[in-house]
Amino acid sequence: MVAFFYHDNKDTPENFTDEHSSGTPVTVERLKQLGVLYYYVTSNEQLNSIAKARNYKNRDEITLNLDSFNGDLGAFNAKMAQFYKEHYHEDEEIRYIVDGEGYFDVRDVGDQWIRAKLNAGDMLILPAGIYHRFTLSSAQKNIKAVRLFKDEPKWEAINRDTDKVTEARSDYVRGIAV
Ligand code: LAC
Ligand code: NI
Repeated sequence: MVAFFYHDNKDTPENFTDEHSSGTPVTVERLKQLGVLYYYVTSNEQLNSIAKARNYKNRDEITLNLDSFNGDLGAFNAKMAQFYKEHYHEDEEIRYIVDGEGYFDVRDVGDQWIRAKLNAGDMLILPAGIYHRFTLSSAQKNIKAVRLFKDEPKWEAINRDTDKVTEARSDYVRGIAV
């Protein structure tokens, strides 16, 4: 079941894949104010119609688990650490979960982490410029997701610790300040 809640900020490098719920829920409307969109998608037709309406012409499917690294724990852990590092992109990040489970964390206007717990059927759209991070869950340590994109996607992650502010970031900040 999908859930949105504030993170408890008690994560460590050892336990960051745990749920870390503060117990404070967050509504879909609140996420929308941050430019984050959520859809529950139950059919291929529905997926296709969202893709068409939003001009997502292309898609691919990715699997993330230890097997996808042929059991190479070091490589798997390195990828996990990379995804959990706070970053933004110059394009939207769109994920439709097909199997497994994952946590997407986004920063609210007060710079607090909101966590989205996603399972099969959940689709999350993060706007360009929003700071976020991702992790698999301790419970499943596996996810299969469809990535949707318009043309040539810019997957490049701009890490927060670089302090780099591109147009995508300044446009985003301007857009949520009302
Ligand atoms: C990405 C997710 C993990 O950038 O945020 O692929
Ligand atoms: Ni990202």
